[in-house]
Formats: sequence, structure tokens, C-alpha cells
Amino acid sequence: MMKEKAVKETSITIAQVMLPQDTNPAGNVHGGVIMKLIDTAAAVVASRHARCNTVTASIDRLVFHHPVFVGDVLFLKACLNMVGKSSMEVGVRVEAENYLTGEVRHTASAYLTFVALDEKGRPKEVPGLIPETEAEKRRYQEALMRKKARLELRMKEDNCQNKGICMI
Ligand SMILES: CC(C)(COP(=O)(O)OP(=O)(O)OC[C@H]1O[C@@H](n2cnc3c(N)ncnc32)[C@H](O)[C@@H]1OP(=O)(O)O)[C@@H](O)C(=O)NCCC(=O)NCCS
Repeated sequence: MMKEKAVKETSITIAQVMLPQDTNPAGNVHGGVIMKLIDTAAAVVASRHARCNTVTASIDRLVFHHPVFVGDVLFLKACLNMVGKSSMEVGVRVEAENYLTGEVRHTASAYLTFVALDEKGRPKEVPGLIPETEAEKRRYQEALMRKKARLELRMKEDNCQNKGICMI
């Protein structure tokens, strides 16, 4: 029996200054740069929880609420929301801070599902998660609902594929 872990044991914050190579000529940071950082932050959390190789299984809808500019400091706050048998949902909140004025903008939020793999690349059981605070308990319940919705969508997609129907 694996020892359960608390959310705080694996939560992280990454801070990164946005540089000219991250932006277009007008100084707007590319969405792909932020997406890579989101994936990296979430991977660190999932791997710290599972303590084995993990892969990104899916990333839910990602909306950029505000632009990020060269010179902004990007903060990525990542924590585990919920674990299944071998899968883990990680939530990442992205904030951009103007280091001159201190203004903070909520740039994006994303939910990513990682799967822990054994040495043969097969899904592997992960430790349980202990949500302690009210916010952690709420996020756990919301993540359970998202997992249910993802499974339903996956079944629908498989169904369409079997019937030769293209969904996109
Ligand atoms: C992710 C992957 C391991 C799932 O393999 P699979 O054979 O479909 O696994 P299973 O059907 O047994 O499902 C295993 C777990 O993954 C979850 N899962 C599978 N596909 C998923 C998806 N698209 N989104 C979210 N969760 C998913 C299942 O719900 C299950 O969770 P649980 O064990 O907590 O109940 C496999 O699809 C894979 O290797 N994909 C490539 C990953 C990759 O290369 N990522 C990018 C680079 S890191």
C-alpha cells in the first residue's frame, strides 16, 4: 500500500522573466511559450507525486485572458487536484506581473491529466491524495466531474471512430 500524499507536498510555483526570444516583434509573448511552461510546471507536480515517469495524457481547454509582454514575470502556480488509479489531474494558474508597477494579471488557467508509467511504459498505480483545505476539497470534487466528462467524450470519440465518423 502506497502512502497517501497531501496536496502541499508536491505543489510548486515557477517564476520566469519573459525575454525577447519569447515574443513576437510587437513584444507579445507567444501562446506556445506559455503552454510549454504550463506543461513543465504540471509535469513537475505529477512526477513529485508519482515518483516515476509520467506523461501528459491530455490538456483541457486553454483560454488566454490577457496578453503577456516582454519583461513581465510569469508565475505558474501548479498543484494536484485529484488522482485516479494511474492518472493525476494538475491545475495550473498563470499570472503575469509587471515588475515596475506590481500589477498582476490572471493570464490563463489549465487542467492537465498526467498518467504514471511503469518500466514497460504501462499505466502504473499512484499514491492517493489527501485534500486538506476547503479549496483543495472543492478542487478535488470539481476534478472528479471533469474526469467523468473526459471519459464520456472519449467514449463518444471512440464510438464515432468505430463508425467511421470524423468529429473534427
Ligand atoms: C496516456 C496513456 C498512457 C494512456 O494509455 P491507455 O492505454 O489509454 O491507458 P488506460 O485506458 O488504461 O487509462 C489509464 C489512465 O489514463 C487515463 N486517460 C487515458 N487517456 C486519457 C485522456 N485522453 N485524458 C485524460 N485521461 C486519460 C484513464 O482515465 C486512466 O485513468 P485512471 O487509471 O486514473 O483511471 C497513452 O495514451 C499514452 O502513452 N499517450 C501518449 C502520451 C504522450 O506521449 N504524451 C506527450 C508527451 S509526454
